Amino acid sequence: MSDITIVPMANKAFGATATGMDLKNLGDDEFSELHAAFLNHGFLLFPDQHLDEESSIAFGKRFGDLEFGGAPMANQKKHEDGSFGKIYDLQSQLMRTNVGNETWHTDSTYKPIASRVAMLSAVVVPEEGGQTELADLRSGYEALDDATKELIAGLSAFHSTNFSQANDLGDFPDTNGDGLYGEVYHGEAYLRPLVKIHPETGKPNLFVGRHAFGVPGLSREESRKLIRSLIEHVVGDDSRVYSHDWVVGDTLLWDNRRALHRARPYDYSKPRYLIGTRVAGDPASELAYYPEDPEAEAGRKALTEELRVLRDETKDQMYGATTASF
Ligand SMILES: [Fe+2]
Repeated sequence: MSDITIVPMANKAFGATATGMDLKNLGDDEFSELHAAFLNHGFLLFPDQHLDEESSIAFGKRFGDLEFGGAPMANQKKHEDGSFGKIYDLQSQLMRTNVGNETWHTDSTYKPIASRVAMLSAVVVPEEGGQTELADLRSGYEALDDATKELIAGLSAFHSTNFSQANDLGDFPDTNGDGLYGEVYHGEAYLRPLVKIHPETGKPNLFVGRHAFGVPGLSREESRKLIRSLIEHVVGDDSRVYSHDWVVGDTLLWDNRRALHRARPYDYSKPRYLIGTRVAGDPASELAYYPEDPEAEAGRKALTEELRVLRDETKDQMYGATTASF
């Protein structure tokens, strides 16, 4: 018998707090218990764990291959020696990307393989704001009326960060950017069903967020309206939304195949540093296609056309439809 206690979040359709274990030193039976609770609840909060980069990577690897591990999710550059540089300007591409993530999304749906699990561990947090919020796409799907379930069965949407940055912020990053930005703003769009059958629980959930656009078979207007209404439906009920006020030492782990999330604003002149680890999806259930596959052409075409329209529509928004400087 382990000492693990799992307490569901009060008045919420999903999520639980897990205590009574040390994530840095976790037995196989304890991991199995946590993994089952993770699948059941959709996200787990682990207070007072104080994971560092290595322990964040080690815990993440127990769920599968990593997309990345132990990465600084911060508003300042982290140097090799562990020190931090000056706080990034709000106009930098990194901060534009961070601000973009203040809109509901699931991670890496804009890549060939969408993510399985996201994990954040709090090291430096602002006194106010900067929460991470989660929303439950499973109970959101269950609460849809039958006509909507029928309407969306068989429909898909393209997913792209070039789209979401343009649509949410009027930000048109360079698709040939270096390093991270080349991986994120790459000019591809990946087609994914609006209803996802969860590969480990077999349960259906909605699968839409800020990166989704261009439902094939619908007009642009119908598509925008449908995607917006589905997201608003999910987040429009308090029981489906959890807002986490970070405390140093917390680790938050969520199922990217079932939960939406977003960051909340804070005073960007103050430091914020969380350690991020992301587990890759299973190609059997999270692979759309690769850029070299013939299907990718339709995504690039849909994105090019969408961005052409958005350049005009968003020119008065926050970043003014300009190309970011790095
Ligand atoms: Fe995210």
